[in-house]
Amino acid sequence: MAIPTETVYGLGADATNGSAIAGIYKVKARPQFNPLIVHVANAATARRYVVWNDKAERLAAAFWPGPLTLVLPRVADCPISELVSAGGDTLAIRIPAHPVAQQLLRAFGGGIAAPSANRSGRVSPTTAPHVEEELGGAIPLVIDGGACEVGLESTVIDLTGDVPGILRPGSITQEQLNTVIPVQGRDNNGEGLKSPGMLESHYAPSIKVRLNATDVTNDEALLAFGTPLSGAGAMLNLSPTSDLIESAANLFAHLRALDHPRWRAIAVMPVPYEGIGTAINDRLTRAAA
Ligand code: TXA
Ligand code: MG
Repeated sequence: MAIPTETVYGLGADATNGSAIAGIYKVKARPQFNPLIVHVANAATARRYVVWNDKAERLAAAFWPGPLTLVLPRVADCPISELVSAGGDTLAIRIPAHPVAQQLLRAFGGGIAAPSANRSGRVSPTTAPHVEEELGGAIPLVIDGGACEVGLESTVIDLTGDVPGILRPGSITQEQLNTVIPVQGRDNNGEGLKSPGMLESHYAPSIKVRLNATDVTNDEALLAFGTPLSGAGAMLNLSPTSDLIESAANLFAHLRALDHPRWRAIAVMPVPYEGIGTAINDRLTRAAA
């Protein structure tokens, strides 16, 4: 079933149920090497599944419930399906802030594994109708919790090594994390710190995406930021006031709305690499890959 979270909609199933998890991989056509995030109601439940440490404690205290996913070692005899970890010995875990997700997780008591509720490689859904577009007919239930407030996936941070490293930039910025503990960004980290899911092209509309547009033609759709360029065949604005938080919330819905074969490409105006802009640019770069 699809569930709302504050970031994007997830395709959720009981994380201990191997055949349900296999179903998630199948419906999404997701490569089996790409592990899933487990969602829980509280930190006590998280500690049943992963080996907790001081850094996890401090980050959880600062950012949970919320869009931060911690990667930690699985406990011995962890009841979570090995498919969720893609056969590895770590588990990614977070407490979502969305009230509907919270209610569901509290009532369920255990972990719900939930990747974004899109077909693999495509744009993540931020409304229930987007989930229908992606997976309608293939899944039994979509819980409509309204439009996702944040609109961009959680930040994934690896806490299994000596220095915490960001595996996927997300709505919690590196600057925010650094106010709690020092963390490494993705650009200057060593090998082995990559999230398996970050290897492929992702978040891809079906038409071409052209980045850092400084002009636009009438056979293109424009994804604007701030004052729009003129001359586009169609235009949606991430944020007329150049607000990055607003832009994150609009990003996937706007990409989806502009993705129409009548346009030669989606031309995207430059978005600054600051704060959540880093994660927005990460998704845009993947959309253009
Ligand atoms: O905001 C979010 O994180 C959303 C909502 C539904 O919670 N979920 C989401 O899931 O974006 P998904 O499957 O689309 O992305 C999960 C990311 C992938 O990049 C995956 O490779 C990484 O987390 N990941 C999951 N488990 C991991 C692990 N054990 N080690 C390293 N990376 C992991
Ligand atoms: Mg995804």
